[in-house]
Amino acid sequence: MSTTATAHTNIAFIKYWGKKDPILNLPTTSSLSLTLDQFYTQTTVTTHAQADQLILNDIPVDTTRTHQFLNILREQLGNFGPLTVTSTNHVPTSAGLASSASAFAALTGAVTRELKLTIPNEALSRLARRGSGSASRSFYGHFAMWHEGVDDMSSFAESLHAPDMPIALVVAEVSADVKKVSSSEGMRRAVTSPNYGDWLRKSNAQFVDMQAAVMAADIEKIGSLAEDNALSMHALNLTAQQQPFTYFTSETQQILKIVQGLRQQGFLAFATIDAGPNVKIITTLTTAPYVVAALHDMLPQLHIETATSGSGITYD
Ligand code: DP6
Repeated sequence: MSTTATAHTNIAFIKYWGKKDPILNLPTTSSLSLTLDQFYTQTTVTTHAQADQLILNDIPVDTTRTHQFLNILREQLGNFGPLTVTSTNHVPTSAGLASSASAFAALTGAVTRELKLTIPNEALSRLARRGSGSASRSFYGHFAMWHEGVDDMSSFAESLHAPDMPIALVVAEVSADVKKVSSSEGMRRAVTSPNYGDWLRKSNAQFVDMQAAVMAADIEKIGSLAEDNALSMHALNLTAQQQPFTYFTSETQQILKIVQGLRQQGFLAFATIDAGPNVKIITTLTTAPYVVAALHDMLPQLHIETATSGSGITYD
């Protein structure tokens, strides 16, 4: 018996960057994301295995994190036997393109279907959150928001039911190398920044403003709020009292400069960056080719892809 689920990755425009409960993965802030059509994980779970096993992009890999997560699902859903998890990531793994979001969403969906359980997406989002916080948002197409909540029940994601809009995300892949500081570790350090309290207040206000901007399909406002939110998040890393660090490389800085330059020329372009050096540029479908051309001119070696709004989880 086997079941396959496909979940797309999402990019947070209002970031999750800190945990108030690391076991339940309860975040310190609510977050809001766009699901991307271009990047996704397809996961098949098969029963009759001897022990939990993970095969990622055709290669058997370390199963520790998957096994721990499957045990959480066993606790929550009732015990089930060992599973072989076969996953194909159409996302550069662990390079700050949030493959864990699509991976844990697809796995949660595939396991519950395989167990013949019909569970609404909000409940699936709570389960997937335990594997990786950002996975809670990957069940929904277009825009999703994850309410921070105060406990396991109240911390879940839902669709924003936003209007269609010609938004595009130009993804500049600075490096597909495995990142040095995991998201969880980065958050542990960031919360030690003396600016963390200010970040919480600012992020709460931006979460409200971002919802309004998304519902108004105001891509310029979405971009400017997202860029400010992302740069504030990365400033926390630099100002952490314990082991300050940065995900930025010199190429990251160069791309940020190019984005600024594009704005000065009147183009709609704003940057957001996650737990890695890659830069995602929020723009419109018509402006995206100009952004790509400008990046190509200055940094011909960059790998660039343009993504648009993607769909929610699907099952084969
Ligand atoms: C910067 O969801 O990868 O992409 O819950 O520890 O697995 P864990 O963290 P993860 O963190 C994502 C951080 C981020 C911002 C975001 O997606 O909201």
